[in-house]
Amino acid sequence: TYSTKIIIAIDGYSSCGKSTTAKQVAARLGYTYIDTGAMYRAVTLHFLQRRVELTNPEAVTSALDSLHIAFSFNPETACNETYLNGVNVENEIRKLYVANLVPEVSAIREVRRAMVTQQQAMGRKGGIVMDGRDIGTHVFPEAELKVFMTADPIIRAERRQIELWAKGEAVELHEIAENIKKRDHLDTTRTESPLRRADDAQLLDTSFFTIDEQVDWVIRAYKAKLESP
Ligand code: DC
Repeated sequence: TYSTKIIIAIDGYSSCGKSTTAKQVAARLGYTYIDTGAMYRAVTLHFLQRRVELTNPEAVTSALDSLHIAFSFNPETACNETYLNGVNVENEIRKLYVANLVPEVSAIREVRRAMVTQQQAMGRKGGIVMDGRDIGTHVFPEAELKVFMTADPIIRAERRQIELWAKGEAVELHEIAENIKKRDHLDTTRTESPLRRADDAQLLDTSFFTIDEQVDWVIRAYKAKLESP
């Protein structure tokens, strides 16, 4: 029935429109949107601020002990904003100097364990749309609906450039393309829950889709799932 609150897992490459799609799907269904990329970005910012040596497991563990990540809905922006130890870091974590280090930080086993535990606690009751890299494979392998998003790398770089412009950061396309390539490589080859499509995930290629089309696509998949689970 439509009153059932399920878990919708949205995974895929960076800059495919995952978070925009997930956010709007959540709004349409009255679900909670959880951006797990923001959590890995917040950990990275925390480590940068504390100059944590990434190869030192004790330093990593102790930095994780003093880490608190929370989301709070801002009615002005209609967004769930990210807080790191009580400070709003929503803008800071989107900057390129943070993005460049996230793949390394999110490859650390202790970091992933801590984040996955928190994500499972946040989503257990259902009624969530969670986006990330390992949600359908690792965080919620039992999620009722799994979507794997992809798009042409050049199109993804262009989209990221427009996003950065809107934030006042002018970055050359080749620099963004490099960053995307590096992230794809690290995301798919790391030993700890690498990015991969779950066997039961539906593939959504957004190269030639508008945001509205992507959102409609997921809503249709959701309705189909509820009609014949
Ligand atoms: O979705 P995003 O671009 O905000 O993700 C930022 C980084 O975090 C990206 O390098 C992949 C990593 N990430 C991850 O390893 N696992 C997740 N569940 C979400 C993001």
